[in-house]
Amino acid sequence: MTDKYAVIGNPIAHSKSPQIHTAFAKQTDQDISYEAILAPLDGFEAIVRDLIKKGYKGANVTVPFKVEAFKLWSKVDFKSNVVDAGAVNTLTFSDEGIIKDNTDGVGLVRDIQGNQNYQIANKRVLLIGAGGAAEGVLHPVLEGEPSLLVLANRTFEKALAMQKKVEPYEEYPITTVSARAFNDLENQSFDIIINATSIGLKKDEALPIPNSIFAENCLAYDMMYGRETPFMAQARTAGAQVSDGLGMLVEQAAEAFYIWRHVHPETAPVIEMLRKAN
Ligand code: ATR
Repeated sequence: MTDKYAVIGNPIAHSKSPQIHTAFAKQTDQDISYEAILAPLDGFEAIVRDLIKKGYKGANVTVPFKVEAFKLWSKVDFKSNVVDAGAVNTLTFSDEGIIKDNTDGVGLVRDIQGNQNYQIANKRVLLIGAGGAAEGVLHPVLEGEPSLLVLANRTFEKALAMQKKVEPYEEYPITTVSARAFNDLENQSFDIIINATSIGLKKDEALPIPNSIFAENCLAYDMMYGRETPFMAQARTAGAQVSDGLGMLVEQAAEAFYIWRHVHPETAPVIEMLRKAN
């Protein structure tokens, strides 16, 4: 029997997840269906309950429901590797209850280290943004053991709060973690710079960051995909290697697929397929 999965979001029409999971299923010979479901802004929990009733095996969760998904069902049985992230993008509907996961950070780190071939260990990393997207990748980036992780955000207090979350650093003895305001980035350059803000979603507004932050051979990574953002354009001009977030999207999906189906799909052909379709 075909096992049913879905991605829930709002908006959802442009989601590439159905295409990605369908490609994974074909490649690995898994009998699944995967569809995109639009949830009303106040109707996320009801949609999930309905899917469970209808026998779905799991769901991905996307904007704007990731934090809500984390907060829900805390009293229901669940195994969680998402306590640190505060956000959830993968739900598994099991006999024991709803299992929550966040595969975004794993997806980002696999894309940077595996696909882009940039190792995080001992590098100076700048993570820009302190919203759900940034928080979701904070621990996986730290697990890569950079020498320095600077957290920069328009609202400095949020960057500081994120820094405090990983104090007192016993878990990450290799890395110095430091929160900075944008206007305090002038005298430091970085090997890997990750844009985890939502600025690219809104309009062609640029981040107020100086060109001096891009070290020689720097990787500038924007979690957005689908178009060249002002951050990517600035990084390119500054001589950085530039990546959008399409690889992260496919890698996070691959990890969710693995959680559900216990097989690792190949991501490279799916990334290539999506690039060609763009
Ligand atoms: P997401 O889940 O995508 O992270 P979010 O939680 O709303 O969304 O967080 C948005 C992030 O983008 C925040 O870091 C936000 O900065 P503030 O904390 O100061 O709000 C950042 N952001 C959004 N618009 C921005 C802009 N025009 N300039 C700089 N940062 C911006």
